[in-house]
Amino acid sequence: MEEMGSNFYNNETVFATYMRHRQGADTPNETLEKPVILELVYPITNKRILDLGCGDAAIGREFLDHAAASYIGVEGSHKMIETAIQTLNGTLGEAILQTIEDWAYPSIAFDIVLARLSLHYIADLLPVFTNVFRTLIPGGKFVFSVEHSVITSCHRGWNAGTLRQDWIVDNYVLTGLRATNWLGGTVKKYHRTIEDYFDLLQTVGFRIEALREAHPQPQHFHDTETYERRKRIPLFLILAARKPE
Ligand SMILES: C[S@@+](CC[C@H](N)C(=O)[O-])C[C@H]1O[C@@H](n2cnc3c(N)ncnc32)[C@H](O)[C@@H]1O
Repeated sequence: MEEMGSNFYNNETVFATYMRHRQGADTPNETLEKPVILELVYPITNKRILDLGCGDAAIGREFLDHAAASYIGVEGSHKMIETAIQTLNGTLGEAILQTIEDWAYPSIAFDIVLARLSLHYIADLLPVFTNVFRTLIPGGKFVFSVEHSVITSCHRGWNAGTLRQDWIVDNYVLTGLRATNWLGGTVKKYHRTIEDYFDLLQTVGFRIEALREAHPQPQHFHDTETYERRKRIPLFLILAARKPE
């Protein structure tokens, strides 16, 4: 099985395994990535939020419960979108089945655009970043996380399912497609250097406000051993950028 981006998550086994991991308590998403995302995205009161590759849209529900004006999740996997629709049931939130590449971005419509761990599935980010810039209001904010460039560079030496203790970084400047075994399937992701993300944002006109690597903070961990292990390898790269007024 070798599939692209959101189609990967349509596979029954992949989807079930992903959701089981994602909803666990001490996942790196919850302990490392989410605290930084929240720090960079808040305040959200009365904000119109677009979430690209929203997955189950759990964060959308959370935003709406904390007084966001609106939330739209765009998601390419039909299995994910079913879950997202259930999550947002009874709220003003909306989940749309569409790819990040092909969605018709309305002009000057959102205060915040978020993309959590979805952009490394996309071959060409320049048109996506251009659309994000256009869809934001002046002064609007773009916050996204990707797998850290150290991680996407090379997967030699790690068996999916085992605990990561160290990591081989290789072919770092050779950007582009990487196929890896993950969650019982083969997934294609795109490796970019940190500099690539930085340059892309600046190219479309964003002013970069933060570059974070989600350093572990003890208060987010139940388990000291996991906290210590998470200090070894950077898993996430998170950027926040603003459309100038
Ligand atoms: C690792 S999951 C993250 C989900 C969610 N953002 C979260 O943090 O819980 C990546 C999500 O991006 C979606 N995705 C990947 N490529 C996409 C694309 N080109 N268009 C729309 N969705 C995409 C996948 O279907 C998947 O739901």
